[in-house]
Amino acid sequence: MDPAIETQVEAWLSRMSLAQKVGQMTQGERQHITPEQVRDFHIGSVLSGGGSAPGENRPADWVAMNDAYWAASVESGDGLLPIPLLYGIDAIHGNNNVLGATVFPHNIGLGAARDPDLIRRIAAVTAKEILATGVEWTFAPTLAVARDMRWGRVYESYSSDPDLVASYGRAFVEGLQGSLGDGDVVACLKHWVGDGATTDGIDQGDAAISEEDLRRLHIAPYLPALEAGALTVMASYNSWNGVKCHGHTRLLTEILKDELGFQGLVVSDWNGIDQVHEDPLEAVVQSVNAGIDLFMVPDTWQRFIHDLTAAVEAGRVPMARIDDAVRRILRVKLAYGLFDRPRPAERTWSNSASYGSAEHRALAREAVQKSLVLLDHREDVLPLSKGARILVAGRNADNRGHQCGGFTVAWQGSSGNALIEGGTSIWEGIQQLAPGAVLDVDASDLDGASYDVAVVVIGESPYAEGMGDIRPADKKVARGSAPADLPKADLVPYAQTLQHRINRPEDLALIERIAARGIPVVTVFVSGRPVITDAEIAASQAFVAAWLPGSEGGGVADVLFGEVPFRGRLGFDWAGVDGKTRFTLGHGLSTGN
Ligand code: GLC
Repeated sequence: MDPAIETQVEAWLSRMSLAQKVGQMTQGERQHITPEQVRDFHIGSVLSGGGSAPGENRPADWVAMNDAYWAASVESGDGLLPIPLLYGIDAIHGNNNVLGATVFPHNIGLGAARDPDLIRRIAAVTAKEILATGVEWTFAPTLAVARDMRWGRVYESYSSDPDLVASYGRAFVEGLQGSLGDGDVVACLKHWVGDGATTDGIDQGDAAISEEDLRRLHIAPYLPALEAGALTVMASYNSWNGVKCHGHTRLLTEILKDELGFQGLVVSDWNGIDQVHEDPLEAVVQSVNAGIDLFMVPDTWQRFIHDLTAAVEAGRVPMARIDDAVRRILRVKLAYGLFDRPRPAERTWSNSASYGSAEHRALAREAVQKSLVLLDHREDVLPLSKGARILVAGRNADNRGHQCGGFTVAWQGSSGNALIEGGTSIWEGIQQLAPGAVLDVDASDLDGASYDVAVVVIGESPYAEGMGDIRPADKKVARGSAPADLPKADLVPYAQTLQHRINRPEDLALIERIAARGIPVVTVFVSGRPVITDAEIAASQAFVAAWLPGSEGGGVADVLFGEVPFRGRLGFDWAGVDGKTRFTLGHGLSTGN
């Protein structure tokens, strides 16, 4: 708590009307709110949901959009106070919404690197690529401790080990927020709390665990990140023993704010307050009184303003609670120096040439190298020889969209290479090191040539949130941040089993067909989580967990050819078809080079 900031907070608060206070507590989504409405309703923040981008989705389009929102928010006179708004996005593995960004491995791969300093460097570079688009706030890091691999958001978790998550949380906040200077952005710890603890891994489900376990496993990783000065925290969709976090006074106020002394702001998740009560007014009353400060109400923000205003006027929400929420919002904006920053179009890093630069991509490639886990290795098939006759096959071999996974340009990710500009597919990386390699995705021409070895790149397709869940088909997925135009019928879970040979039988068939020709197979498995792959492993001479490596697939080739050694270690247990652990957390072979 900085006395000078607190003085400014009180000075601003004393000038604010109820309408201005309620406006500051409101966050709309860019598709549902204009700069004029930001001005007229005194809006405190605007966000982009996953995949929601302005214009051609280039940095210049984002800077222009943010400049317009910012200019509207600082208009003064005629009942207006110049309080600059904060723009928030999900830059969770680079500035992943925007075309041409450096896309880093998702958290599950970074956890396998066991390298907090790498995380700090990634966060610092991510901050620069966020600032290149005129944005000041990212909803990251995710500090979920995923415990059930059926959850659709396992890949957003660094590990099932809370200590590893804790070490990364501190590093990521320090990298993002730095000295809160020109090159730094506002961090957001999410999702508070217990998102990775739900029964059966059901997204937005119930964490039915004791307070002791909640503290030990899911709250503990937040402590170093809070000590590092994280300015914001996002409430979680899940419930804890049947009570939704968004309406949970003990979690939001008694523990986070009172016991842990958090002085920043708590933001709700996308329409998260709707799950607190079916009556919108009641949902507002309960969630604001429980301790939510800023409300992510993407398309219902006008109803929210009406309801909260009515609730205050009816005495159902004390003005002291409103003032506490607005103090926190103002404190974050003042601590970040937002009032002193120029308009987005005039900021140091806006449209920076470092965006998507070779230097940034080199860091991402280093992260890929360190994230790969060699699960199984027989007959010394690795490292590969650049002069060998190499077949490269598999649906994920030349597919930058698949290797990036969800939350990449589109909310659910993409397929093919078109939307991932810059970077290299795994195939392109192999081709760079071994120009004689042959890409034959379906291995349709095994007779045409003889090969010394085959690299078969298979695994999962992209998904995000509940649409990545493994659950019975009749259990529909909660909406989450699904675009409004995505019909509910499309919100279906990814699969009903973690057994890959059932989900993608063609992958095993491909490995076996190649192996039947006497060609040793190195399988590279692209996935957002540990998947049951006993059969695929048995049919391969080597099996590499590549996770979701992001745009720099060349990092996979670097390790396959021994340019750098395998060093990744599992951040989660990897199960076998018998339901037992096949490879434990910490497992990872080396190639001895
Ligand atoms: C989503 C996610 C959250 C994200 C938010 C904004 O539903 O739960 O992680 O930050 O909405 O896109």
